[in-house]
Amino acid sequence: MTFTGPFQLDGKIALITGGSRGLGRLFAETLAQAGASIVIVSRDEERCRQVAQELEQSFGRPMYAFGCDVARSDQVDALYDAVASTVEHVDILVNSAGLNRRNPIADLRVEDWDDVVDANLKAPFLMARRFGPDMAQRGWGRIIHLGSILSAIGIPGRTPYAASKAGLLGLTRTLALEWATRNVTVNALCPGPFKTDMNLELTRDPVRFQEFVQKIPMGRWGELHELTGPMLFLASDASSYMTGQTLYIDGGWTAQ
Ligand SMILES: NC(=O)c1ccc[n+]([C@@H]2O[C@H](COP(=O)([O-])OP(=O)(O)OC[C@H]3O[C@@H](n4cnc5c(N)ncnc54)[C@H](OP(=O)(O)O)[C@@H]3O)[C@@H](O)[C@H]2O)c1
Repeated sequence: MTFTGPFQLDGKIALITGGSRGLGRLFAETLAQAGASIVIVSRDEERCRQVAQELEQSFGRPMYAFGCDVARSDQVDALYDAVASTVEHVDILVNSAGLNRRNPIADLRVEDWDDVVDANLKAPFLMARRFGPDMAQRGWGRIIHLGSILSAIGIPGRTPYAASKAGLLGLTRTLALEWATRNVTVNALCPGPFKTDMNLELTRDPVRFQEFVQKIPMGRWGELHELTGPMLFLASDASSYMTGQTLYIDGGWTAQ
């Protein structure tokens, strides 16, 4: 497929945290398909290299890989330096790295809270703080945060996840205002349930899986390809007048 007009990303460089697996891997493929070169980042550097190699083979342009725990400011600082010495600039930042630990609050350890909130909320702050100002200086940028239906609603047993994903919308709106005059847009993409490693616990349990299905007005989980259009929209000129907003792709769950 070739993309033309506002959806094409020729010459753009997109950094995707959590690009090694799941939705991040899907977004890497989506943006590469539209013409971008991709920088894959996760804690597993080897896996990132493998993905970058696969993308290079499919699309015939340079792709890059870095290992980094994006919840740690020292590692994000080192990542920024390593990326700056490898590519000219980063135009698009997709903060897809994320973590969930499910338990009633009495059974949650403080370290569960810290791990989840650090990966889901602190990491996007650290990444935007390093990579956003350069976009503002150049006068074009896209930052996309991965929220969730839990940015808007609660589900019992999801305390740190829901708190972090709701907080992410505050970060999204504030950064959007800081860079509104610089052509750097900051938006949140909020999926309903999709079948990735994060949801293995649910997809392997037919009873819990079915309980989820019953909450979704469309009566089914999302198919991965149903996130590609929304991601490309937010990452390209197609969404040039949209910033600080939230796009729910959830089969109608949050419309209830
Ligand atoms: N799947 C869904 O239904 C769904 C729904 C709503 C929102 N989301 C959100 O979408 C995003 C992607 O989810 P997913 O389903 O793709 O999850 P996933 O399959 O579990 O993948 C998570 C990704 O994040 C990376 N990661 C986790 N912690 C990291 C850290 N501290 N530093 C760097 N990388 C880290 C992982 O790589 P390493 O382990 O190699 O570091 C992996 O690439 C998350 O923010 C999630 O909350 C997902």
